[in-house]
Amino acid sequence: MKTVQDYLQQNKDRFISELFEFLRIPSVSANPNHDADVVNAASFVAEKLKAAGADNVEMIPTKGHPVVFGEKIINPDLPTIMVYGHYDVQPADPLDLWDSPPFEPVIRKTDHHTDGAIFARGSCDDKGQVYMHIKAFEAMMACNDLPCNIKFMIEGEEEVGSSNLATFLEQNKSKLAADVILISDTALIANDIPSITVGLRGLSYVEVSVVGPNRDLHSGVYGGAVGNPINILTKMIASMHDENNHVTIPGFYDAVLPVSLADRQKMNEAPFSLEEYQADLKIDSVHGEAGYTVLERTSIRPTLDVNGIWGGYTGEGAKTVLPSKAFAKISMRLVPNQDPDFITELFKNYFESIAPPAVKVTVTPHHGGHPVVTPTDTAEYKAAELAMKHTFGKEPIPQRGGGSIPIVALFEKELGVKSVLMGFGLDSDDIHSPNEHYGIFNYLKGMETIPYYFKFYAELKQ
Ligand code: BES
Ligand code: MN
Ligand code: MN
Repeated sequence: MKTVQDYLQQNKDRFISELFEFLRIPSVSANPNHDADVVNAASFVAEKLKAAGADNVEMIPTKGHPVVFGEKIINPDLPTIMVYGHYDVQPADPLDLWDSPPFEPVIRKTDHHTDGAIFARGSCDDKGQVYMHIKAFEAMMACNDLPCNIKFMIEGEEEVGSSNLATFLEQNKSKLAADVILISDTALIANDIPSITVGLRGLSYVEVSVVGPNRDLHSGVYGGAVGNPINILTKMIASMHDENNHVTIPGFYDAVLPVSLADRQKMNEAPFSLEEYQADLKIDSVHGEAGYTVLERTSIRPTLDVNGIWGGYTGEGAKTVLPSKAFAKISMRLVPNQDPDFITELFKNYFESIAPPAVKVTVTPHHGGHPVVTPTDTAEYKAAELAMKHTFGKEPIPQRGGGSIPIVALFEKELGVKSVLMGFGLDSDDIHSPNEHYGIFNYLKGMETIPYYFKFYAELKQ
């Protein structure tokens, strides 16, 4: 192991400049104008896997963006770790809120990253974290110290819901056979407080439209007599939370598995400072479901949030207009055992039922994903615990996360394989936001920790 770590240490500057190259490719999966860039990012991953020593490297087409696959089977009797990640990124908009261009990576210091952080779209989510695995693999290969078989499955549609992956998994079961899926696409509690994510929320995402009169109208001539779609939409949205910030959709909570008081207590023992949380976000108070802490509200409780809302006149100055249409994009984060399709149906029925007769409404489902909780009493998890303990000098804390990675539940359903969520970002890294960044410390620490995961896992499975 000494030599693998030496190799990583000696090559770290190159690993940073290679990541810069990866980050310069604007692989925005949501925007068809970037389709060629998405393919370029896939080729970049494929090439680097090959160069690191992977066999059978392929860019496998799907109905959407390709999946990059590669493997190194050193001995079929040894356990196989499949690394999953995504090379696609979220759109960079709004561009004017970035302090440096999103696809021109630069290193700057931050309060949380005193050694510097790489600023670029995808730096933390997920290119930087994917690249740690490719370079850790390169190091293990170069030093002849790969203790397990390895497969890579790096996809290009995570940020748009991985909708072609169920089919992909179904059609490639034997190619993807593995003992564990190792994923770095989540966060640590802090750089000196290692943690392992042991749960993810599910997701139901819908778009709604509210249509009133057949055309935009003069808000003086018609205002007061014709239903205003924006007034109506905002009222409908507002009615979806009660005074305790519970979601009011009938049946919304019915399937939610209760979490025991003991588990909640344990959860709340994790280091968390409300003051720092509020100071970081420059808010005077948090806001959420009554009876739950911030940690609970962002992990074990389901939510409903408007992600975007538009309609009417939003240009310069004032235009008096009663708009014909209003729209919103709404996400619901789900917890075990809520079913995304069922929740989408509940939402649709409810939204239609509360619409006044003055408007017509439509609800269009987008993507969804099932929530997951991962076990902590397995060799797969223990290996992550041992690896992090070794490199951070502290036992990592198991913590459920608030985000979603739809494929994790699918891996279990289609392949029967559980995942380990050993991520190295920070919640404050501004993923999906302007000025996304990834700490140099985190990038190097991840690379350092990954080979230990392989080592400890091989030992535990002996
Ligand atoms: N890496 C994130 C998910 C994440 C981030 C989990 C931080 C836990 C902590 C992933 O790329 C993501 O953004 N997922 C989307 C899912 C969606 C687009 C279907 C999400 O959570 O919004
Ligand atoms: Mn991600
Ligand atoms: Mn993301």
